[in-house]
Parts: sequence; structure tokens; C-alpha cells
Amino acid sequence: MFEQLAELQKRTAEQIANSDTPEKLNEIKVALLGKKGELTAIMKSLKDVAPEDRPKIGQMINDARAQIEKALDEAAQNMQKLVMEKKLKAEVIDVTLPSKKPVIGHRHPNMIALEEVERIFIGLGYEITEGPEIEKDYYNFEALNIPADHPAKDEQDTFYINGEMLLRTQTSSTQIHAMENSKPPIRILAPGRVFRADEVDATHSPSFHQIEGLVVDKGITFADLKGTLAEFAKEMFGEDTKVKFRPHHFPFTEPSAEVDVSCFKCGGSGCRFCKGSGWIEILGCGMVHPRVLEKCNIDPNEYTGFAFGVGLERIALLKYEIDDMRLLYENDERFLKQF
Ligand code: DAH
Repeated sequence: MFEQLAELQKRTAEQIANSDTPEKLNEIKVALLGKKGELTAIMKSLKDVAPEDRPKIGQMINDARAQIEKALDEAAQNMQKLVMEKKLKAEVIDVTLPSKKPVIGHRHPNMIALEEVERIFIGLGYEITEGPEIEKDYYNFEALNIPADHPAKDEQDTFYINGEMLLRTQTSSTQIHAMENSKPPIRILAPGRVFRADEVDATHSPSFHQIEGLVVDKGITFADLKGTLAEFAKEMFGEDTKVKFRPHHFPFTEPSAEVDVSCFKCGGSGCRFCKGSGWIEILGCGMVHPRVLEKCNIDPNEYTGFAFGVGLERIALLKYEIDDMRLLYENDERFLKQF
């Protein structure tokens, strides 16, 4: 029995040493100490030993068992340590490596220009509002004193949804909403998308953006309009910018004007940018037509107002010296990244 135990211990020690997985260790354990295990069998055979030898041999078996269990435990622990070391090595993170910079994109030139225009007019006490892109004919045309036979109302120029509804062709429709929704004094700036049945080219697009301005109060004159737009031009295009008002016609303003700014590229002497004229057209404006005020239940004998409409893309193209409007819509990252 003594030899049998000694041989078992030796063999087991070798098996443990050759094991490289926890599963193998478990197999060894079961083969020895399981129900049908070798050591279990030896323990069972203790009853056949002479009673006087039992304590001694029993002790021997217990010692052998304890030693084998200890060896198995130690081997298991070592194995776990090795597995952990291997895992740590494989998953090592070098916290000193430079990190990847997140790509946060760029502001679109339209947005930069819009925020600049808004900043200027907020500084002058204007409130920013918006109106719907889908409008009734009334808001886009009729209330703005645009007659039913006006060429702008042609289906060639306007996207109609049905007989009454259309995609607004101008942000001037927001003037009517503003005057319907609040009482003078009114001082609003309303940016938004507009739609026209135009073919795409370097200066046209079926969808673009305008910024509408409207002021209505007692005693508002053309001088207020001139002063306001001169201030805007200076802030937007530089302190030395001059403005020129050219008489024009819009159905919803009387008198009406188009406004040019002195070319900020050549200062007015004439260059490729201003096509040699020294001036660049930037917006339309005028004194709100009395009939438009009346439509909104504002008494033209008590109140007067001025309005203006700026093409946002036009401002962005001028400000950033972009020569093709299509670049603003293609969203080519190589282009947008420059702003
Ligand atoms: N709505 C005009 C357009 O789309 C621009 C405009 C001109 C707006 C004169 C105005 C204005 O408010 O007073 O061409």
C-alpha cells in the first residue's frame, strides 16, 4: 500500500507538471478523487486492512490526498496567473500614444454669413423670426400687393402645390406674418429658404436663402432705411464700405431701391470682382407700401415702415470670394473645410 501510494503521488506530480489547461487539471482530480477515482478506491480498501494497521495507513492515505490536492491547487493558481499575464500583455494600452482627433466638421459658408448678418441686426435691436416655406398665395403675393397677373406668379417661376398653396418665392411673406402677429413697433429679421423654378447654374438654384428685414413704427422714414443699411454694409464688408441706393420697383414697397456697396476688393476703382463698375449689388429695399400695411390692419396714416431683402448666398459668395453658387450646395468636404 505504501509503495502503491508513493507511485501514485509520483505519477500524479508528473501529470500535473505536464498539464497546461485547467481542464486537464480537473481530469486528473476526477481520475484520483472522483467516485471511481484511484485514491477513492484506495480509501475504500482501508476496510480490508488489519484493524491495528488502519490508523497508520489511514494517516498515510490522508497525507497523500492532502499533498495531491495542494499540488493541484497550486498548479491551478499558477495557471490562472499565467493566463492573466498573457491577457494583460495582449491587451496592453499605451496611454502615452497620441490620441485620434475627433472630426468636428466645419460651419457652412452660408451659416457663417447668416450668423454675421444676424449678429449685426440683433445689435441694432432686431428680433429673429421665421415663417413657413409652404405658403398661401395670399402671403407670398396678394398681401404683398403683387397683382394677379404679375409675371413672378407664372408657373414658369413659382412652384405651386395646388391652386392656393405654393413654395414661397421670397421671404417677404414673413413681413405679413410679422404684422399680423404683432403690433408696431416691429423690428424683425427673418432668414429662410425660398424656391423658384430656376435651372441650376453658377448664379441660380431652384432653392436658395433670403434674409428679410422689416421695421414698422411711427415716424419711420427713408433716412432710417439708409442709415440702417449703411451701418449693416460697414459692419459686414468693412468700415470704408460705401452704399448707393438706385431707384427700383417692388410692388410691396414705395419708393423702392436696390442697394449697391462699393467693391470691397478694389475699393471702388473697378476690378474683375465688380465687373469694372466699382459697385456690387447686394439687396432690394424700400418703404412698406401703404396698401401692404392696410392689409395687415395697420393704419398707414399713423405708421410707416421700411423693408429689405438680402440674398444669403450672394452675401456668402461675395464675402468669401466664391465664384460659383453650386459649390455651396455640393457639400464637397474639400471645399467646406476652407471655412
Ligand atoms: N422679395 C424681393 C425679392 O425676392 C426682395 C426684396 C425687395 C425684399 C425689396 C424687400 C424689399 O423686403 O423691400 O427679390
